[in-house]
Amino acid sequence: MQHLVDTDQLSERQIKDILGDTARFKTRRPAPLLSGKLLITLFFENSTRTRSSFEVAAKRLGADMVHLDPSRSSTKKGETLEDTFANLCAMEPDGVIIRHSENDTPSRLAEMEMVPVINAGAGNYAHPTQALLDLYTLYEWFDGALEGLRVAIVGDIINSRVAASDIRLFRRMGIRVSLVAPKPFMPPVSDLPQYERIEEVLDDVDVIISLRAQLERHKKPIFDDYEAYARRYCITEDLLEDRGILIMHPGPVMRNIDISDEILEDPRCMVLDQVRNGVYVRMAVLKLLLLDSRETDPAEI
Ligand code: CP
Repeated sequence: MQHLVDTDQLSERQIKDILGDTARFKTRRPAPLLSGKLLITLFFENSTRTRSSFEVAAKRLGADMVHLDPSRSSTKKGETLEDTFANLCAMEPDGVIIRHSENDTPSRLAEMEMVPVINAGAGNYAHPTQALLDLYTLYEWFDGALEGLRVAIVGDIINSRVAASDIRLFRRMGIRVSLVAPKPFMPPVSDLPQYERIEEVLDDVDVIISLRAQLERHKKPIFDDYEAYARRYCITEDLLEDRGILIMHPGPVMRNIDISDEILEDPRCMVLDQVRNGVYVRMAVLKLLLLDSRETDPAEI
């Protein structure tokens, strides 16, 4: 049984297959490959993009989807998450997609080996499908030439599961990653080049991935004034000038703090392209986990 807790569970071949299937699905809507399959989502944290993107992806492949609203579930009556998961698995879904504030929740459920588990974002540990859609966005834009690409990740890196997953996956693909953040947002230990000012990297990067300040993960407020933060870290026209740097952001974007209104409308900005690609990438991930990687039922031989 294959799970997706983070992309290190994927072989090089599987990553290539995901990129290839994504490109194919984008060009031509596939047959309902997952007709008769059922997925259950369990989102313990808010989501706009990931949850709806998984649902669109599943439906485009002919699968059904059931959403359990954790705020109305029996976890509120004291049922453990493992018991909730086991009860959902007793309904025989083909996969469970989970988002949770704890880093190890998807891996704990995956270790129960009841059904393929897909991590839709866990704490500040991992967000594998975001990393895959970010990778695909680069792969498409740079015509497959990922090796040696220079990416700067800017913002609240220490609290970002997107940064954590992007860094692991991008380095594996030969992409050179640098980190730009004020000290409270910078990981204390990292072997990646670190900078405090964006201006230090502007002439040496192909891509900037801007991140939102993850206020919900700050135990106490880190900055009193996010306008002062924005004056140093917001991606603006004045900062970029005519440099051909691609601008990405996983969303939700804090306008004029992470990225200015003007840059969000600029052709260099890939934010909505990332969301569009996310559907096709998740279609490819669902195909991989539910179809390509499943053990063959002896009755089917
Ligand atoms: N990128 C991302 O995870 O967005 P959502 O929180 O809206 O799913």
